[in-house]
Amino acid sequence: MNNQKQLIDTAKQTLINNDLGGYTVPTHGLYPFQWNWDSAITALGWMTFDEERAWQEIELLFSGQWDNGMIPHVLFHKESDTYFPGPDVWGSDKKVKSTSISQPPVLASVMNIMFDQCKDRALAAQKMAEFMPKLIAYHLWWYRERDPKNTGLVVSYHPWESGMDNSPAWDEALAAVPPVTWDYQRCDTTHINASERPHKKEYDRFLYLVEFFKNNHFDSDLIYENCPYKVNDIGIVSILHRASKDLLALCDKTNISHPSITELNDAVALTETTINGLWCEQDQYFYNRNVITGELCKVKTSASQLILYAGLANKLQADILNADALAWTQASTFSMSSTHPKSPLYEPQRYWRGPIWLHINWMIAIGFDDYQFTDIAKCMKDDAIALVNQSGYYEYFHADSGAGCGGKEFSWTAAIALYWWLQPQSIQHL
Ligand code: GLC
Repeated sequence: MNNQKQLIDTAKQTLINNDLGGYTVPTHGLYPFQWNWDSAITALGWMTFDEERAWQEIELLFSGQWDNGMIPHVLFHKESDTYFPGPDVWGSDKKVKSTSISQPPVLASVMNIMFDQCKDRALAAQKMAEFMPKLIAYHLWWYRERDPKNTGLVVSYHPWESGMDNSPAWDEALAAVPPVTWDYQRCDTTHINASERPHKKEYDRFLYLVEFFKNNHFDSDLIYENCPYKVNDIGIVSILHRASKDLLALCDKTNISHPSITELNDAVALTETTINGLWCEQDQYFYNRNVITGELCKVKTSASQLILYAGLANKLQADILNADALAWTQASTFSMSSTHPKSPLYEPQRYWRGPIWLHINWMIAIGFDDYQFTDIAKCMKDDAIALVNQSGYYEYFHADSGAGCGGKEFSWTAAIALYWWLQPQSIQHL
């Protein structure tokens, strides 16, 4: 792939091919359903050539929202035998079958961009009137159910909720979760080489947690008290924080008043006062925290750079993160690898343990750009273009060879390309 028009056509065609009638699968076979943050990112791609379809993506995502406000991480709209664990293992009894956890809530930030950049203002206004109460309910769910003690830092109960499934940041916390003892047949390794996927020891524990939620009847209080895996995920905390600010901005722009706006404002302010609980003075870095032990998970992953995307770093911390990121980009051929290349846990082709994910690069670039660190932002963008030029719209990329890894013809990679660097300046964020 090389010329601009060809790249745009292929990216559009990727979304069209992955469209299952109102929602877009991340890729056929490996991920045959609607995923929460994939859909949000994918809507940005649709927005560049079919606004109505972009709003429809979001409508279908809201169709699976639980009564408590949660938007699940996967909506099983149709049956498929190419994926495990499916709806029976998760055991939720909702109208739209789904998983019982969520995913990084980038949705409000995406809707804010869509509202600002759409051409069909009447359609956008109509959609906003319909979606805003649901979006507010989703954010309230995060703060009320995942931070019942008002710490300012929501908790996550499953590595799948982070969207960064087998990040080495979770190793220690996950090791405390018992493994399931029953036999099961994974599907992911029938689609993708096992060297690019999580190990069985992780899957055994992923499945234990899925059963734990079901056995506790999805009861928030019971799960909060007893879940054997609880982390403050810096990715979720950061993405939620930016999204909540975008949500409040959207309320202003759309003149929507809601009784819970003060509560949201308070939640945002609280995170701003408590975020330094994740800052390690000794290492000069933000880390995830294992809430059960109280210890920081001292593995350097790129998720921590999302703190800039959230606007949560002070000037000194931002300077440190920038210097660190500049060295990080030098340590592999392409950047930003999801685990620091100098970490002993770095594996450049294994899923979230090293490879590059372009939607993460996009958010990291926005963060650095917001803080006026334009070198890093430019590096993220240039490398994203180089990776796609070299390998196409893969799920993720080897940080040294640039080879495409995981699923092919991947929706969020195509969508990010369409939105971020393939369109005329007007539609780009950077
Ligand atoms: C994997 C990723 C997750 C993504 C999903 C669908 O589980 O880790 O972030 O949402 O695939 O693409």
